[in-house]
Amino acid sequence: MSNPIVQQFFDEPTNTFSYVVRDPESQSCAILDSVLDFDYAAGRTDVRSADQIIEYVRSNDLTVEWILETHVHADHLSAAPYLHEMLGGKTGIGAHICDVQEIFGKAFNAGTEFERDGSQFDRLFREEDTFNIGGLEGRVLHTPGHTPACLTYVVGDAAFVGDTLFMPDYGTARCDFPGGDARTLFQSIQKVLALPPETRIFLCHDYKAPGRDEYAFMTTVAEQRASNVHVHEGVSEEDFVKMRTERDATLDMPRLILPSVQVNMRAGHMPPAEDNGQVYLKVPINLF
Ligand SMILES: [Fe+2]
Repeated sequence: MSNPIVQQFFDEPTNTFSYVVRDPESQSCAILDSVLDFDYAAGRTDVRSADQIIEYVRSNDLTVEWILETHVHADHLSAAPYLHEMLGGKTGIGAHICDVQEIFGKAFNAGTEFERDGSQFDRLFREEDTFNIGGLEGRVLHTPGHTPACLTYVVGDAAFVGDTLFMPDYGTARCDFPGGDARTLFQSIQKVLALPPETRIFLCHDYKAPGRDEYAFMTTVAEQRASNVHVHEGVSEEDFVKMRTERDATLDMPRLILPSVQVNMRAGHMPPAEDNGQVYLKVPINLF
């Protein structure tokens, strides 16, 4: 089985890593967890981050087979619709997107035009589903806990873990968003840690742990098992749940959670324009 060539792209305002995952034997690739730049104060979007990915894809003469999300992100908007328009490729996310759409469709009082069946995506993945990037085979692990729809994509020796694990010195993802659960995350992480020890783990975010100067995007299963500050070998489920719950209670909401979930629950599309032709996003008062 061959292993992918992985190119990372970093969006510092949201600490997000996007990836282009390439088949070394062909020109096929997948794009994971893209970012649409958003100036919240001005209500203005920008495609400069997505354009870096487009430039990479075009200059390497790649064919985009997939535009994938590990989950409905709460800290940045997805650029999937723009990338799809510019480069083609099928969109995909976890089948439990329907649960997330139910939760946030209700929270934002979305109209009946908002389908809660995941139909905005080309493919809804379930546990152990497989897909191809050229000659590479991808495999899906359902890894909920941070959100109900979180997936890990395993492609050759690479695992794209979304918001489950962070760098070993930083720990794990929060579990206090609607539909999140610390016990579920612990169990999901055990699935990831059961992959071969040499598996490369590609992170969705890095925040530089105290004392570390550089951002990092990759680690291994072996390193996580040995030294992840939250879930290294020997940490019990009970200890983890206690730590995670206490820590989550101290965390602020991500700056872009309100725009992000409204857009990402629609696969990165904006809500429909109102009768004056203008698109708006909502701010629910005292709800979250
Ligand atoms: Fe997230």
